[in-house]
This record gives sequence, structure tokens and C-alpha cells, in this order.
Amino acid sequence: MLLPNLNEAKKRTKSKVEIIENGYQVPEHLKHIGKGKTYHIKTYGCQMNEHDSENIKAMLEDLDFSLEEEMEKADLVILNTCAICENAHNKVFGMLGRLKHLKEERPSLLIGLCGCMMQEESVAEEIKKKNKYVDFVFGTHNLHQLPQILDRRLREKELQMEVWSKEGDIYENIPVKRDSKYKDWVNIMYGCDKFCTYCIVPYTRGKQRSRLPEHILKEVEELKKDGYQEVTLLGQNVNAYGKDLNQNYGMEHLLEDVAKTGISRVRFVTSHPWDFTDQMIDVIAKYPNIMPYIHLPLQSGSNRILKLMGRRYTKEEYLALYHKLKEKVPNCSITTDIIVGFPGETEEDFKETLDVVDQCAYDGAYTFIFSPRVGTPAAKMKDDISLEEKEERLQRLNQKINEYSNQANQKYLHKVVPVLLEGVSEKKEDMLFGYTDTMKLVNVKADKKYIGSIIPVKIADIKTWSMDGEYENSN
Ligand code: SAH
Ligand code: SF4
Ligand code: F3S
Repeated sequence: MLLPNLNEAKKRTKSKVEIIENGYQVPEHLKHIGKGKTYHIKTYGCQMNEHDSENIKAMLEDLDFSLEEEMEKADLVILNTCAICENAHNKVFGMLGRLKHLKEERPSLLIGLCGCMMQEESVAEEIKKKNKYVDFVFGTHNLHQLPQILDRRLREKELQMEVWSKEGDIYENIPVKRDSKYKDWVNIMYGCDKFCTYCIVPYTRGKQRSRLPEHILKEVEELKKDGYQEVTLLGQNVNAYGKDLNQNYGMEHLLEDVAKTGISRVRFVTSHPWDFTDQMIDVIAKYPNIMPYIHLPLQSGSNRILKLMGRRYTKEEYLALYHKLKEKVPNCSITTDIIVGFPGETEEDFKETLDVVDQCAYDGAYTFIFSPRVGTPAAKMKDDISLEEKEERLQRLNQKINEYSNQANQKYLHKVVPVLLEGVSEKKEDMLFGYTDTMKLVNVKADKKYIGSIIPVKIADIKTWSMDGEYENSN
């Protein structure tokens, strides 16, 4: 049994990141341990976890398990958890309650937990002590060991807990079962070294480590060859790509090389404003297949709070970057993340945030109430604002965000925009759905034969969270 350790997770040494080309192995005798059995995965949190779940699915299928869409029917259920805020925790513990009942009805059910929450000391301890019905736990650093951990659980009939708290290496040969045939994520880096004072990610995901450009480009080339239209380059802080490789090859070079593969659409998340270079902006502006959509987290508009958050930019620097992007990248849609109620945030500080929102008129935003995470510096800061006040600020902020998002969407009315059609709309069966280059969700009247293609769509109606449109056939 190996439990997570916060002190180990905090460490950043100069030790070299190992790139392990064959760390994932399925011994012959494990290749059919899932024969005739099904699995179901619930994924919480960000795209990083979504992509990890694609890896987990592929590993389980290597063991001969097959996918079951309904959790209640599966023989093995895995929860891939997120630790970013208390809410994320509560969702997982709520789901664990449901799984406990399922297991009481069906004792053969296997329950596995993984993801960022498992990297937290307190969570791992609690699961070990209280949640006797959990069968196995693994962390974000040792996904590749899933076959061995599962095998040990089947043989030893007791909780298997294996969570590493190291700075992290890169495992290159973990298989992936991609959820879509048209678009997918490509990890370009793992971990984060920014240590924003409120954030747990640097502890749950380890140090920043970039994949080698040749590995990334090979993956993109293969996706393109398989008919994929879109890749999203993925990392907590993609603009810092390559800094740890010391090869004089940064995000601007990678973006350019990925664009040159000729894949139809290139996206990237998440961009920390601090590392956004002019060269990157020039590359985004130059290549039509780099999408005009940028997620640019603000977090706060108050310089005092930004400093306490350790974000390393000022309101003025953020705004200058924002305007440069808008000026150089035509039609660029920009979204953001904002935290309200950071310890000590006054009404004045909050108004500074609203002021930035007014100046940026974002296309959309994810908004959060500050949630203290054990082990982070902000969790120890004096916080004398009531939850009521924080909720009220969140509401005021959301109202503004929604107004601007609506205004931005209204500009699309009667315009013709390119949409990558991904499938049949869940809500309207006679319509297809897809996203514009600027990441707007559109329900489209078009023939199913266009699924997987990028087609021109004339926007006919603007809804709160989506738009409706029709294939604009120019013939
Ligand atoms: N790497 C990205 C953010 C990843 S976490 C970046 O730096 O922009 C996604 C979002 O969760 C953050 O942008 C932040 O707005 C929010 N978040 C992170 N920690 C939080 C906390 N302790 N409380 C509330 N929101 C938090
Ligand atoms: Fe968290 Fe900051 Fe790293 Fe983003 S950049 S993952 S907010 S520490
Ligand atoms: Fe959550 Fe981990 Fe992502 S904490 S937001 S799943 S990196």
C-alpha cells in the first residue's frame, strides 16, 4: 500500500524527467482477466481527466473488459476524480454513496478510484479508514499500472491502494480509446510549476514536464491520417511548453509545426497570461487552421488580489494582452476563469474584477467561489468574508458574464460560420450538433452524411447556451 504524501508532492528538484517509452505492459496472463465483464467510468474535472479516462478505457479494453453505458449494470466502476474545489469533492463522495448501495445489492461489483483527489493525503486516509467497499485506488502518476493493480485486487481480495507522490515522469506508450472520431486532445505537457496560492494542481499533477516535440507531432500526424479534423493541445499552462526541455523550442514553434501538419483545426488550453509571447500571437494570427479561440484565465481584476494569488501579472498587463490578441487575431473569441471571494477580497477588489469584465466583454467564463484546498498557501490566509457575501458576488458576476456572452452570440445572427459537425444533437433528434471555429455550440439542420465534416452554417436563432442554424448550400 502506498499513500500520497504532501511534502513529497510539493518538492521540485532539478532531477531530470524520464521519458519512459515502454512503461505500460500487459503481461500475457492478464490479457483476458476482464473477459465477459463490463466497465463504466465517471469522469470529473478538466480535460486532463477526460483524456486520462480515454487512457483508462483503452487499458481496460486491453484486459478484455467491454464498455457499459449504464453504471448500474457494470461489473467494474471507476471514478476519475477532481480536487479543484470542495464541490468537486462532494460530487465524488455523493457518487460513492450510490456505489455503496450498488455493492450491497451486488457484492461482486468492483469499485476503483483515481484522479486528482486520490493525490490528497486526507482523502486517501479517509478512503482507507471509512470506505471499506472501495476495491482499488491509483493516482495520476501511475495510471500505467492499472492492469497490475487490478490483478492484485482480484488475487488478494483486499483494498489495493497505490498512489505515487513524485514530481513525475512521462509515460509514452499508454494506449488511448478516443471518445470522438473527429476531434481529440493531445497532451503536450503534464503538471504545473506555477503554484498559484489557491491551487492544488501542482501537488496533484507534479512538476511541469513537456513531451518531446517529435512525439506530439507524430501523434497529430497519426490523428490526421485517421481522419481527425481537430486537435486540442492540452496542458495546465501550455504557453510555458518546452521551457523545461531547454531546446529553444517553445509553444510558438510547436503551434507552428502542428499547424503545418495541415490538420483542419488546432486548439490549445489553458493559456496562462504570464507566458503569452508576441511570437505566439503572430503564429496564431498567421495560420488559418489555428482557431480564433483563446481561454485566458483572469482570476481577479484587482492587482492586490492577483499578487496574493501569485499570478505574476497585473490588471493592466492582462488588459494589454487581451487587446493585443483582439487586434491581431481577427474575430477572436476569448473566455476566462474568475474566482470570487479570495481571502481578503474587498468590495473594491471585486469591483476591479467587474471592471475588467466590462472592458473585455468576454464570450463566456467559468466562475468559482474560492475554495480553500488543504496544503495550499491561500488556505491559511485570513478570510473574513461571509459565504453569503461571496455568493452574492458570484451572482452579480454571473449576471454580467451572461449579458456579455449573450451580446457576443447575438453578433452571429444571420452570419455564415464554419461548424465541425460531431453527431446527432442530444436534445433535438432531427438536428446535428457541432462547434464553430470560435467554440460556439450550434445545432444544425443538415444531412447526417456531413457528420465529421466542417460545413458552412447560417445562424438563424440565438439561444442562451447554443445557436440554431442551417447548412448553407451555396450551389
Ligand atoms: N491551469 C489553469 C487552471 C486550471 S484549474 C490556469 O492557470 O488558468 C481551473 C480553474 O479552477 C482555475 O482557473 C480557477 O479559476 C479555478 N480554481 C482553481 N483552484 C481553485 C480554488 N481553490 N477555489 C476556487 N476555484 C479554483
Ligand atoms: Fe493551478 Fe495556477 Fe497551475 Fe493553473 S497555473 S494549474 S491555476 S497553479
Ligand atoms: Fe481537477 Fe485535477 Fe483537472 S484537480 S481541474 S482534474 S488537473
